[in-house]
Amino acid sequence: MRKNIYKSTNIKHLTNIKPIFDDNLPKLYIETYGCQMNVNDSEVVVSIMQDAGFSVTEDIEKADIILINTCSIRDNAEQRVWGRLDVFKQQKKKNKGLRIGVIGCMAERLKEQLLENQIVDIVVGPDAYRQLPELLQTVENGQKGINVLLSHEETYSDISPVRLDKNGVSAYVSIMRGCNNVCAFCVVPYTRGAERSRNPETIVREVKELVDNGYKEVTLLGQNVDSYVWVDPGNVTKTVNFAQLLEMVALVDAKMRVRFSTSHPKDMSNGVLYTMAMYNNICNYIHLPVQSGSTDILARMNRKYTREQYLERVQKIREIIHGCAISTDIIAGFCGETDEDHQLTLSLMREVGYDYAYMFKYSERPNTKAARHYTDDISEELKTQRLTEIIDLQNKLSEESNEKDIGKVFEILVEGVSKRSDDFLHGRNQQNKVVVFLKNNYKTGDYVMVKITGCSSATLKGEPIE
Ligand code: 5AD
Ligand code: SF4
Repeated sequence: MRKNIYKSTNIKHLTNIKPIFDDNLPKLYIETYGCQMNVNDSEVVVSIMQDAGFSVTEDIEKADIILINTCSIRDNAEQRVWGRLDVFKQQKKKNKGLRIGVIGCMAERLKEQLLENQIVDIVVGPDAYRQLPELLQTVENGQKGINVLLSHEETYSDISPVRLDKNGVSAYVSIMRGCNNVCAFCVVPYTRGAERSRNPETIVREVKELVDNGYKEVTLLGQNVDSYVWVDPGNVTKTVNFAQLLEMVALVDAKMRVRFSTSHPKDMSNGVLYTMAMYNNICNYIHLPVQSGSTDILARMNRKYTREQYLERVQKIREIIHGCAISTDIIAGFCGETDEDHQLTLSLMREVGYDYAYMFKYSERPNTKAARHYTDDISEELKTQRLTEIIDLQNKLSEESNEKDIGKVFEILVEGVSKRSDDFLHGRNQQNKVVVFLKNNYKTGDYVMVKITGCSSATLKGEPIE
């Protein structure tokens, strides 16, 4: 058994953003489920672990520790993790010294319950990642390790995430953590705690680091970016809101594209829209989850806007930002949803003409407002039927949106070689649409002007122009 091998952490601005692959060091294998925020959290975790003396492996067979960063948003997300833990059990049979940690939202939600699973050594919630090395030491000393304390301050602002993306082109930057909106269906406020914003100077510093390392695109992440607010602790009259932060980030480098997610219809200000319109490098794309097109259901979901108010925000986007793509999240079959409510969702989708959507069946989550106050009364069949209608409609809308792009010219940021053929590259336009085109002499990270010549519902095809 290893003793006292893990350096305990007293982190002061970790600056290495590259993964360390070194066979002489103990190896961490990390697997991530859930949202973009979780992807970025895993990068923070790797930074902490590398500082504690670990290297990274992509081969589970070589791992000394496996961390699984988990999601609780829907029941099927949790089921997948339980399935993976069964696989890890086989791994542990082969390698008795292997340590297994469950981190993230499921760790927070299920706490000790996860430790009842024999193979789980440590359980760490989203605000306790700095403790990982110490908790591992606890395991080496023969105990299990758990820390699921939520914090009002933790933003990991001094830790530069170790970038695990493969392309070296686009990176996530967390600007805030937690969530103060209590949407009735959502587990996030319970798994990620109260909302807190990160010091803008550390955000700008991180974006500069990314520029220095050749990155071309950042996505600013928060559960509700529109409620970002930094109050200077030294002078409480000095504040930075999201529109101002967006401008600070856009000014770092005109060649660095800026995206953000997620916007909340009740909070998205015109100021944000004007800032987007003002800076060319802020992408013309907004992810604006609607959840339902029915004002009654929205009220029951505690979303705090009506159908009309949502449509007014869409109208404003169209008015202020030329050629802005809009995507959304939709839940089918929330508690008490009538056929009329469902029809209202379909008609709102048509009215907005979404470019893209993420669509889900309602999944009741324990202890949420909906679980406590409403009955999950829509049958599985009806949820499936409504979801299918929503998906079918969105496929049509996406295709229509793509067809409208034929003949247009877009600036594409190249992300890599197309999976289908080495002769083609793929990248995205500002509107977040994937575009495939002939490689010529272009390479990953280049900006290329491409004329759109064809499309499917999922992809645009085009030809580079000089
Ligand atoms: N059931 C189904 N979908 C959900 N979402 C959040 N909670 C639930 C749930 N309990 C969806 C919402 C949210 C997206 C991230 O996941 O649409 O915007
Ligand atoms: Fe992300 Fe929400 Fe899933 Fe947590 S529960 S990983 S915040 S999507």
